[in-house]
Parts: sequence; C-alpha cells; structure tokens
Amino acid sequence: MDNILEKANLTHNLTKKELVEILSNSDFDKDLFFVANNIRKKFLGDEVHLRGLIEFSNICKCSCKYCGLRKENSALERYRLTEEEIIDFAKKASQYGYKTVVLQSGEDASFSIEKMCRIIKEIKNFDLAITLSIGEKTYEEYKAYKEAGADRYLIRIETTDKELYKQMHPNMSFENRIQCLRDLKELGYEVGSGCLVGLPNQTTESLANDILFFKEIDADMIGIGPFIPNPNTPLSKENGGKFKLALKVMALTRILMPTINIPATTAMETLNPNGRIIALQSGANVVMPNVTEGDYRRKYEIYPGKICINDKPSQCRNCIEAKIKSIGRTISKDYGFHKKICNKKDR
Ligand code: 5AD
Ligand code: FES
Repeated sequence: MDNILEKANLTHNLTKKELVEILSNSDFDKDLFFVANNIRKKFLGDEVHLRGLIEFSNICKCSCKYCGLRKENSALERYRLTEEEIIDFAKKASQYGYKTVVLQSGEDASFSIEKMCRIIKEIKNFDLAITLSIGEKTYEEYKAYKEAGADRYLIRIETTDKELYKQMHPNMSFENRIQCLRDLKELGYEVGSGCLVGLPNQTTESLANDILFFKEIDADMIGIGPFIPNPNTPLSKENGGKFKLALKVMALTRILMPTINIPATTAMETLNPNGRIIALQSGANVVMPNVTEGDYRRKYEIYPGKICINDKPSQCRNCIEAKIKSIGRTISKDYGFHKKICNKKDR
C-alpha cells in the first residue's frame, strides 16, 4: 500500500499535498476505497442509517449556475407542498420505519418562521429526528427552528474556492455561507456540509482544500456528489464530474473523519447504476431515500437523470433495504446521530 494511505489509516490526517497526490493518481484507488471502508467498519460498524427525504418546494430565489431549481429556469414546473402534505409525508415516513426525515427545498421565502416551526413541531410528534436543508437563513431563524425541534441542518459549502464560489453563485456571499455553518454549530445542530465534484475550473487542489475544510469546521455529516450538468442552466455544455473522483473525495473524507455520517448520494447513483452500494463500500454509512409522493419527485429536478422519479416511497424503502442487505449490511433502528468518540486522537 502507498505510504500516504498507510499514514492516513493510522493518523486520520493528511496534508493538502498528500490529498492532492492521492486525488490526482489512480494507482492507489483500490487501496483508498479499501482503507475508507475498513475505517467505516471499525468506527461505525455495519449499520446503515436511512433518512427519508421530503422535497417540499422547488421554488428558489437563488441563481446557482449549476442548479435546475435556479429562479431563471422557466422550464421547470414549480410546486410547493402544503403544511398538511409535508406533515403527512413525514408521518408515512415514520410508518415505513424511518427514524429521520430530511425536509429539503429551494430557498423559498414563503415558508415563514412560524410556518416552519409549526411543521417541525407537528413532525416531532412522530418520533422522528428532523434534518433541515432549506438554505441560508438568519441566526434568529435557525434558533427558532432548533427550539421547535429540528436536530440537524444540511448546507453544503459546494466549493471552498472563493473565486469559483463567486462564479457559481451570483448575488451570494461565501462569507455568509461560512457564517451560517458557524451559527448552526453554535446553536447545537448537528451540521452537515459537503461539496460538488467536477465543477468547471475546479482543481484537485481545491478539492483537497474542501476535504480539509470539512475537518476544520468539525462537520457531523458530509455529502459529496458529482456535478451533473442540467440542460436548463448556464452550465449545460460543461462536462460534469466523474463518479470515480467524487467517490475518492468521499473516501478521503471518511479516512480523515472516521465517525461522521456520510451519505451515499443520489447523484452518485445517477452516474453509476450501483453508485450508492459502491459508496457504502467505500466509506459511506447513510442513504437518503426519497419519501416524496406523486409527481413532485420528477419536478424536483436539480439535475437530469435523477433516480426513482417514478417510484413510490414504499418501493424505494424496499429496494434500498434489499440492496443494503445484499452486501451484508443492516438497517439501523436508531436515530443515527453522530457517534463522536471521546478520544480526540481518533477523530
Ligand atoms: N448536479 C449535482 N448536484 C447538484 N446540486 C445542485 N445542482 C446540482 C447538479 N447540477 C446539489 C448541491 C446542493 C444539493 C441539494 O444538490 O450540492 O447542495
Ligand atoms: Fe428508489 Fe431503489 S431507492 S427504487
């Protein structure tokens, strides 16, 4: 095995130079995935945590260049679920055996603090952990959601390359994104972040910085996915990210952060029909099946080729359970909070 990987396996630390070397060289890919999988097994065992994803609004005030929900995309049929629908989907998710629901949407200003808090409180009655993924909000909003019962928050940094961040996110501020991550930590959320792999002009050096950033902010969850060009965005003609590179960024993140929760992302499965299982065998320990019903799934088109758009929540639940069991893994029955290990050396 490569020296760098041997060191990483023991210390869970790598320099930027070492990360770049592994990312840009394919000779040790097999070893990389093997080490990441072993670390996952050693620290977290064989349990896979399922999170039921509710995509409750595709209305967005942002203009992220890569995203199909961007406000300029007039080809997208917009929708917004009612409070009752959201609560109903969460109730059904708990009946399918999920212990967490993820409430995700575009940056839709019509969900006021009061409305979100009502939804969160209602869903808490179903014995579910709640993850929010609804974008940049003020400290006061995050505080109100936390007090209403939200447990976790996902907000990807997308890229730590400030120049690239600026190019990709018109009218947004990198500094504010960082502030959101800080506020969420301070308020006691489990904080999830992550990045896109394969953005135009993104370098391996910048991906190495992303990985180091995840460690620096002491993230509880990290989601990594390849960038998939959407025909209705300004990046339609770009090449997009490679499955293998996204998997490598994910595996390195696992090696550096042995106890965090890492999802096998839907975008990975979009590029490779077995992508989530491969990810679960390369460091991931979480899957986020869709529990949105009806035609909404198709309309939540962040990128083309999204999996499961014609499936029902029960089909996804059964499908993923069978896949997970087929590789000798089990489905967790607990909430799947970040199991921090006190020995700081091991984190
Ligand atoms: N390809 C892959 N992932 C995307 N996301 C947004 N647009 C794309 C795309 N074209 C990801 C972002 C966002 C998450 C919800 O979806 O990383 O944080
Ligand atoms: Fe949706 Fe397999 S997870 S059909």
